[in-house]
Amino acid sequence: MSQIICRDLSLGYNGEAVCKNVNFEIEAGDYLCIVGENGSGKSTLMKALLGLHSPLGGEIIKGDGTSTGSIGYLPQQSELQRDFPATVGEVTLSGCIGSLGKKFFYSKADRLRAHDAMKQLGICDLADRPYSSLSGGQQQRTLLARALCATKKIILLDEPVSGLDPAATADMYETIYLLNKKSHTTVIMVTHDISASIRYANKILHMGGSPHFFRSVEEYRASSLFPAEGGEA
Ligand SMILES: Nc1ncnc2c1ncn2[C@@H]1O[C@H](COP(=O)(O)OP(=O)(O)O)[C@@H](O)[C@H]1O
Ligand SMILES: [Mg+2]
Repeated sequence: MSQIICRDLSLGYNGEAVCKNVNFEIEAGDYLCIVGENGSGKSTLMKALLGLHSPLGGEIIKGDGTSTGSIGYLPQQSELQRDFPATVGEVTLSGCIGSLGKKFFYSKADRLRAHDAMKQLGICDLADRPYSSLSGGQQQRTLLARALCATKKIILLDEPVSGLDPAATADMYETIYLLNKKSHTTVIMVTHDISASIRYANKILHMGGSPHFFRSVEEYRASSLFPAEGGEA
């Protein structure tokens, strides 16, 4: 059964569309890469999937375990967020916010979940370090642990390797690949890295065309959208 279906989705701000008629379908275990030019609406689409942005038209149909608040999210980073004044443990735990409901404090189960997520990503020894003191790769690992606190079923990653050096990038891709293959976590990733997209993903959504291209990686490689040298989107 599909986890997420988007039908004829139009998204925008103040009544003005930034993208129209977006159609795609996500099954459990999929690894979808979303590519396309800056401004084509990729981050807006992530927010719509999270229920943080209301569509102008069309619909988002969610299946089992993908209700609002139970989707893991790694947002696109700004410089300001890199200075966030909290420890690694606190940043990770904030991923449990969806389960707080009317409670004021995180429960023991929330703390256990955060600990498990840090353990899975090998960052337990960084728990008490200020987030701002970490390398870019360690910060993204922390944000991935934070995303996993919400769920292990489905995670949305908005440009997770942007600003990372080649070694940290390879490390991040490997971690995400293992989450998808071993923990069967569905991955939806916004990226400009076409060569990584075709290596790891099984489906590609290319935003910006009319219609927007949504097919398998094999069909994407054979399409005219695929850059000859397989470089940046
Ligand atoms: N909060 C907002 N209010 C108004 N316009 C916005 C807002 N956020 C993004 N936009 C505009 O919507 C368009 C799509 O933005 P975005 O989804 O961030 O694109 P992408 O992630 O593909 O680069 C851009 O033109 C951007 O300027
Ligand atoms: Mg964006």
